[in-house]
Amino acid sequence: MEKSLKKILVGITGASGSVYAYCFLKELKELDIPSEVIITKAGEYVLKKELGFSLGNLKNLCLKVYTEEEFYAPPASGSSNYSAMVVIPCSMGTVGAIASGISRNLLQRAADVMLKEKKPLVLVVRETPLNVIHLKNLLTCAEAGATVFPASPAFYQKPKNLEELINFFVQRLSFFLGLRDNLSNHWQP
Ligand SMILES: Cc1cc2nc3c(=O)[nH]c(=O)nc-3n(C[C@H](O)[C@H](O)[C@H](O)COP(=O)(O)O)c2cc1C
Repeated sequence: MEKSLKKILVGITGASGSVYAYCFLKELKELDIPSEVIITKAGEYVLKKELGFSLGNLKNLCLKVYTEEEFYAPPASGSSNYSAMVVIPCSMGTVGAIASGISRNLLQRAADVMLKEKKPLVLVVRETPLNVIHLKNLLTCAEAGATVFPASPAFYQKPKNLEELINFFVQRLSFFLGLRDNLSNHWQP
């Protein structure tokens, strides 16, 4: 698909690592790719706790920010026109909800819609260690068509600071989604 036809739905949950969501939204903006955000209540709490940010800090990086209660919003519908959804960071609670198809909030419903419409759903999961329930739920999501893309940044490009580490990770994510043609620092033996 042409880059100009893409619109990415970004889900932000209450897993640790709100900085991944922030840097991914900045990456999309730099690539000139429109995005919309759904953030859960726990996501809002962690965003505040980890980055000192409120929803206002996200609003200038995307077209729209939805809260989890807006169950009637466009992402809830199969006729919405998102080319992919990325849940970043993705909590084990949300993984469990997606795996069981319960769709109790807008983010979970939007993920369910992506799976039923056979569109890309990428889960940037963050938890450690993982229990057997987490592992089974992740397998269920993967079998249903989601991509499990753990928030495990690489070190082979020798990042000088946290920003470089996270930026390389989000570039790797947009490369995976076909939103960028190359990576600034590919692995070379
Ligand atoms: C500071 C903080 C960090 C958290 N980190 C994680 C995490 O890394 N992974 C995870 O699965 N849950 C984590 N949680 C727990 C989730 O926020 C909690 O399960 C929440 O209900 C998830 O809801 P949501 O998936 O609707 O956002 C964390 C909670 C807090 C307060």
